[in-house]
Amino acid sequence: MAKNFIWGPDGRLPHIEDHTKRKLEVLKSYLDIYFDTVVRNPAQDRLNITLVDGFSGGGAYADGAETRSGSPLVLLSAVEQAAVRLNERREKPLKINARFIFVDDEFEHVAALRRELKSRDYAEDDPRITIYHGTFVDHLPAILQKITKTQIKGRSIFFLDQFGYSDVPMSAIRTIFNSLDRSEVVLNFAIDSLLNYLQDASAELELYRQFGVDARFISDWKQRKDEKMGRALTQRALMAHIHANSGAKFFTPFMLWSRTDNRWMMLAHLSQHQAARDKMLGVHWQKQNSFTHAGPGGLFNLGYDARLKESCDSFFSFSEIDRTKLSRELINALPSEIHRIMHGGQLEIGRLLAEIGNRTAGTNEDIFEVLSELAQARELEVLSSIGRPKRAGTKISIKDRLILPSQPTLFFSKKF
Ligand SMILES: C[S@@+](CC[C@H](N)C(=O)[O-])C[C@H]1O[C@@H](n2cnc3c(N)ncnc32)[C@H](O)[C@@H]1O
Repeated sequence: MAKNFIWGPDGRLPHIEDHTKRKLEVLKSYLDIYFDTVVRNPAQDRLNITLVDGFSGGGAYADGAETRSGSPLVLLSAVEQAAVRLNERREKPLKINARFIFVDDEFEHVAALRRELKSRDYAEDDPRITIYHGTFVDHLPAILQKITKTQIKGRSIFFLDQFGYSDVPMSAIRTIFNSLDRSEVVLNFAIDSLLNYLQDASAELELYRQFGVDARFISDWKQRKDEKMGRALTQRALMAHIHANSGAKFFTPFMLWSRTDNRWMMLAHLSQHQAARDKMLGVHWQKQNSFTHAGPGGLFNLGYDARLKESCDSFFSFSEIDRTKLSRELINALPSEIHRIMHGGQLEIGRLLAEIGNRTAGTNEDIFEVLSELAQARELEVLSSIGRPKRAGTKISIKDRLILPSQPTLFFSKKF
């Protein structure tokens, strides 16, 4: 086992690595945005949610002379802080009714986690916290049963921080999404470890086949000429397979560079709802994700795209320069996309977001701004949810609808 993740009986904490810090920061930022946006209705007085940490570890790390929270404590404190923050602005108090399920298959890690919780004044029999010793997959049926028994919509976040890529089968993720409507998964996946150790024989193994790795995939990977581009394209192909085989509608990769191992790790966010993906995308921009996918940020497709081999310089990252580029790309790409989905009638903005959500690095706000520009340029007309025309320049919302302008315009007449 990697020595940076060993919690022994002597109580010594493992030293935290930079990429682990970053991973936990991403998790924390995501949870903050999640809670800040999930309860929109001021009349709502309760939020039921279960947070599952399927690979919880021992709860804390050493960072020089300081102690740093591990993922179980990040989950607990994110909920405690959200409860305070959200109630500051509310007349009707909101209760976050959260349950926590922590799983680890190392007995010593479970013991360390219990010690850590106790030292932070969580009672051993705290009814909100369940700790399982054993593998995540073995405990998954009991976890799902626990959630569905009391939560109709199954609002839950699964943080699945495996070491490599073999402890969370795609079938487990499909089971989560099939069982719980409002579930989200944040999956750690050692994407470069998988690629670096691929052998011809891997194509025969179900472990690899579940990620779409077959003989053709392996031979394309081995024959790569340009290391950076070949790796980026193969990572992309793998992401597309993981997305397709996970049963999730939305997929957002967040790349973390491990200096110790000299390789990329992927933290993927998987969800069934566009709003959830939009929240994760907000974290990408905030944290300047080092996911440099090949190609434009405006509209793209994950998955292998041979044409990108010719455009080695077109890597996209989440910088301010890219944000400007992204707006320009969206201005050019959206009209034809809207026309394609619209089929001549009206198009709800919510549907547009759901259609293009996986294929853009733009957040909903970025897309609203571009739509607003297109409306001001009379390329589009915007109707409110009750069908009233909106003045160009007014704020656009997810419930609005788009129609083509009565007069043909530059974009639409040029393209169709
Ligand atoms: C990367 S560490 C987790 C770190 C922790 N999530 C954090 O951020 O503080 C992975 C943990 O998963 C545990 N583990 C390994 N295989 C497992 C499995 N199949 N099911 C559950 N836990 C497992 C290990 O014992 C280890 O504590």
